[in-house]
Amino acid sequence: MTKPPASLLVLFGATGDLAQRMLLPSLYDLQRDGLLPAELRILATSRAEHDDDGFRDLAARAIQSQCDGKAEPGQLRALLERMHYQSADSGSPEAMAALAARVKQLKRGDVLFHLSTAPKLYGPICEALGQHGLGGSDSRVLLEKPIGHDLASACAINDGVARVFDEDRVFRVDHYLGKEGVQNLLALRFGNALFEPLWNARHIAQVQITVAETVGVEGRGDYYDHSGAMRDMLQNHLLQLLCLTAMEPPSQFDPSAVRNEKIKVLRSLRPITGADAASHSVAGQYTAGAIGGQAVPGYRDELGRASNTETFVALRAHVDNWRWSGVPFYLRTGKRMAARSTEIYLQFRAVPHSIFGAHSRAEPNALVIRLQPEERISLELMTKKPGLDRDGLKLAQVALDLDLHDAFGAERRRTAYERLYLDALEGNGTLFVRRDETEAAWQWVDGILGAWREQGQGPRPYPAGTWGPSSAVSLTERHGHSWRD
Ligand code: BG6
Repeated sequence: MTKPPASLLVLFGATGDLAQRMLLPSLYDLQRDGLLPAELRILATSRAEHDDDGFRDLAARAIQSQCDGKAEPGQLRALLERMHYQSADSGSPEAMAALAARVKQLKRGDVLFHLSTAPKLYGPICEALGQHGLGGSDSRVLLEKPIGHDLASACAINDGVARVFDEDRVFRVDHYLGKEGVQNLLALRFGNALFEPLWNARHIAQVQITVAETVGVEGRGDYYDHSGAMRDMLQNHLLQLLCLTAMEPPSQFDPSAVRNEKIKVLRSLRPITGADAASHSVAGQYTAGAIGGQAVPGYRDELGRASNTETFVALRAHVDNWRWSGVPFYLRTGKRMAARSTEIYLQFRAVPHSIFGAHSRAEPNALVIRLQPEERISLELMTKKPGLDRDGLKLAQVALDLDLHDAFGAERRRTAYERLYLDALEGNGTLFVRRDETEAAWQWVDGILGAWREQGQGPRPYPAGTWGPSSAVSLTERHGHSWRD
């Protein structure tokens, strides 16, 4: 028999930026569509002093501002009625005792604790919950990234959480896994027989994974400057996309089967250390430039001080296993780039021989899985260019293009947190990151960051509104490949 969903969601960091921009609006969307468990109560908490009504006002404003004031009044009221607020400083034993008492008063079954606070508080919060008898088998914990700053700090956080919550009750969020387009990658790979025979080193020449943003650091300079593109994006989102692209077919779409395959990919990543870092990685930092015709300041100006933090990273990675031997996986992510674009590009090997002669070269086929801003799948094929071909048949590349917004026009696109909340409330961990994955990803990333430090490899400048420093171009071109911009 499946367990009923959690009866109480306790949201730590409820007045923070993530809660206001993403979490509360996603809860509203679920409420509006009748998808929240009927009995669910929400207990919001943070250090800020509010009473229930004060927090409800704040939450209503946050929700309205994300939907241009168009929230349905009845549904908004119904969501707010589920909400309670308890101010608590996690460092104060009295405040945590009062919070625990409120949790006990409101819970009617399982409890989901969502920690959207500074990660250094995860251990102490879990410890306090455990002391108050709230770490039992009827509770689980949802943790936001970043889990640590490096392997050592990630292990310390994970140990602190594990002292109270068993791993199968720990749900680490990587919001990319909640995105429709990312799950579609799984549907494409494992719902079609067409691709699997070609999905290997014999047929694929190179893979590129790009997560390009046009935004800068958006007022999060203090966090970002201690993090940088490698820790903020690559260690989690890009490596998760790499895992889903490269993993072996899991036997089922369930938490153990999927995560057992992802961890094998992470453990097969060839270390990039020592002198390899210079030929396999590029760090960049944006300077002033223009995006969409608008002048934008450089990173240091935005931050208001000098900094050596990378806002761009590109890597040439290898998954050293049977399936992917010798295939480069180019990964790149950056802020203030030329366009917002998240995509996975797989270039197939070229035909072994051209029957049409030297004047009509067949370009290699490619599959482009575009996740953002639009969801689209394109298969680039060679066709004959129309004409009488007196001097020989000419080939042209065209794309078989599937626009998923058109294909499912009537379906509402769900935000990542809608899906992740429902899964966590129901206790389904398939789209959450397991401890061993986080730690393996940190271990690999630590190797690169360590090599940068050893070799004194700092970020190269790139003007905002471009595709990164020119050395990122040589990263691929040196090997006869080029970025798909
Ligand atoms: C977050 C990063 O995890 O992902 C941000 O901390 C980044 O720096 C964001 O902007 C990107 O997410 P999305 O969903 O806009 O692609």
